[in-house]
Amino acid sequence: MTNPPLRIGLIGTGRIGQVHAANIASNPEATLSWIADPFVAGAEALAARHGGRATDDPEQLLTSGGVDAVLVASPTATHIDLIARSIDLGLPVLCEKPIDLDIARVDALRPRVAAAQVPVALGFNRRFDPAFASVRARVASGEIGDLEQLTIISRDPSAPPADYIAGSGGIFRDMTIHDFDMARFFLPDIVEVQATGTTTFDEGARLHGDFDTAVCTLRTASGAIVTIINSRHSAVGYDQRIEAFGGRGHLSVANAPSSLVSLSTSKSVEAKPPYETFFLERYARAYAVELDEFVKLVRGESSTSPSFEDGRAALVLAEAAQRSAVDRVAVTVDLG
Ligand SMILES: NC(=O)c1ccc[n+]([C@@H]2O[C@H](COP(=O)([O-])OP(=O)(O)OC[C@H]3O[C@@H](n4cnc5c(N)ncnc54)[C@H](O)[C@@H]3O)[C@@H](O)[C@H]2O)c1
Repeated sequence: MTNPPLRIGLIGTGRIGQVHAANIASNPEATLSWIADPFVAGAEALAARHGGRATDDPEQLLTSGGVDAVLVASPTATHIDLIARSIDLGLPVLCEKPIDLDIARVDALRPRVAAAQVPVALGFNRRFDPAFASVRARVASGEIGDLEQLTIISRDPSAPPADYIAGSGGIFRDMTIHDFDMARFFLPDIVEVQATGTTTFDEGARLHGDFDTAVCTLRTASGAIVTIINSRHSAVGYDQRIEAFGGRGHLSVANAPSSLVSLSTSKSVEAKPPYETFFLERYARAYAVELDEFVKLVRGESSTSPSFEDGRAALVLAEAAQRSAVDRVAVTVDLG
């Protein structure tokens, strides 16, 4: 017997909420049943495009009786309360990253999530990128021997506005958090964080005491080392590369070009266009697979969705990196 589509309530209709709405609507296993945003015109526009009922009040969505699961894509400061309310109502949640900017608030919620009868998944979409997932599977199969070094290069095309930086929690919580999760995806046994940050070009970062350029070195209990290289800008576009290095070789993922068309003239040969513009384009497939895995998780099937604990661990690493960069010390972490 086939399952009826999972009725998903979407909270938040901004940049990432719109991606999730389109993916829910186009997924045969799911249906977009409710959409909530205090900016109700955003919810109404998505309802008109993809179906579902619009409201300006997340509580109405949660208590409607018309949702089987919740996707939280509202601003980070709302995540803790929405996760708590959803699980209290027995509704599984897929929540965007980060859980919160403050580990104390995450830890206060932690026992309730652990005791909940329903799952909480975190939106670490990069795990579902087909290229990264393939490298991880091939490393796990032993193709390059034991993993000794993992290098993650992650640079945004351009720095966000200064007021975004002000509320972002800093580069490590806002941006590197994805890379910390990617590091743990390959090497979960991280024990030490060393980070260096500088502010070289972005006035917004300077104004708010943040870094625009950062490097993190993560040491694992097994001895493998992860290096994360971040910048808030990249002249050639969104720069997302990884290299997994082992005793028998290495596996790497290059940047995705924004077009397969190249230009050859007397001045240059096979000149390629810039990389994919930003995360919406580069990770389009990953967001769709993320949703597939969440549906499986809710149905009790085998699923690779990252958990609340994965979200917490990434935030612990981000806080350690912030301390390391500011105090210029190595910080020991316990992710248990
Ligand atoms: N996984 C990813 O790749 C990724 C990418 C971007 C953003 N995010 C995360 O998603 C979240 C949203 O980011 P965004 O860039 O889409 O933000 P955004 O500002 O574009 O959109 C946020 C939306 O939430 C609405 N909102 C505000 N308060 C709300 C509330 N109390 N309840 C419901 N909706 C509310 C706003 O009106 C707005 O429409 C953030 O936590 C961010 O870190 C994740």
